[in-house]
Amino acid sequence: MREKLKNVKQTAQQAITEARDIESLKELQVKFLGRKGEITGVLRGLKDLPGNQRAEVGKAANLLKNELEIMVEEKLAQFNQLELERRLQKEQIDVTLPGRPLNAGRRHPLNLIMNEVKEIFTGMGFEVAEGPEVELDYYNFEALNVPPEHPARDMQDSFYITDQQLLRTHTSPVQVRTMEKKRPHLPVRIIVPGKVYRRDDDATHSPMFHQVEGLVLDHHITFADLRGTLAEFAHGVFGDQLEVRFRPSFFPFTEPSAEMDISCVMCGGTGCRVCSHTGWLEILGAGMVHPRVLAVSGYDPEEVTGFAFGMGIERITMLKYEVNDLRMFFENDLRFLEQF
Ligand code: DAH
Repeated sequence: MREKLKNVKQTAQQAITEARDIESLKELQVKFLGRKGEITGVLRGLKDLPGNQRAEVGKAANLLKNELEIMVEEKLAQFNQLELERRLQKEQIDVTLPGRPLNAGRRHPLNLIMNEVKEIFTGMGFEVAEGPEVELDYYNFEALNVPPEHPARDMQDSFYITDQQLLRTHTSPVQVRTMEKKRPHLPVRIIVPGKVYRRDDDATHSPMFHQVEGLVLDHHITFADLRGTLAEFAHGVFGDQLEVRFRPSFFPFTEPSAEMDISCVMCGGTGCRVCSHTGWLEILGAGMVHPRVLAVSGYDPEEVTGFAFGMGIERITMLKYEVNDLRMFFENDLRFLEQF
């Protein structure tokens, strides 16, 4: 038995000293110190020894057990220390490295102009109203006095969802929705910013684009109010030197109807490629609200008059920032977007 203990001591000490990692150390712990381990085996065999040897061998076995336990623990502590050092090494930060730049976000050019337009009109007492992008045919066309055979209703021009529903092709339906909500309240002064959809796709047309609609209703509203309000708006966006003019036009929901031009932002009116050498640029449609639109919306056309207008935000943004391809607004190329 004494011989065996000596052997165990030697092999165990050597094995523990040479252990390479926590894993193998744990295996040795089981092998020598575990419940079925070698030292326990010796202790179990004590009862078969002659009485005089029992005490001595038992003592030696317990001593060895303690010794080996201490060895294992010290070795474990060493491994843990190494592991900790390795981790700290990996987590080291070099505080002398230059900082990484934080890329600040910025507003999209269309939002810049949209916000500017909103500010100009809210400054004149307009409220902002909104309406659904999936719109009923009734509001998009019928209530706006657009006849059934009008080309704008063609599947070629509009995105239909069912035969009653389509993606709105303009923000004008919100005129009717607002009047239905507000009647008989006066005055009504709203602008309607929002997305609109048409089957179009080229350098100056996108299947989705943005409009701002406007509507003013009260007693005694005249074309002079329309003119003054829209001139004020144009000067707000493009500057006071700019000139405006109104040309007769046609829209089913206004009578009379007009289009507003501004003097060319590129050449100042002398004529260039941008204005096709006319000196003028068309920027919006407008007119006096058609009596039939007033009537279907619940206002008495004998008592109430009003004007309305609608403009494309992409077009105004292109003119203001001299962008010649509208698709750039939707490509999200940072080299473009970072210029605003
Ligand atoms: N809805 C028209 C369009 O999309 C623009 C427009 C013209 C709106 C005249 C109006 C208006 O309110 O009075 O082309």
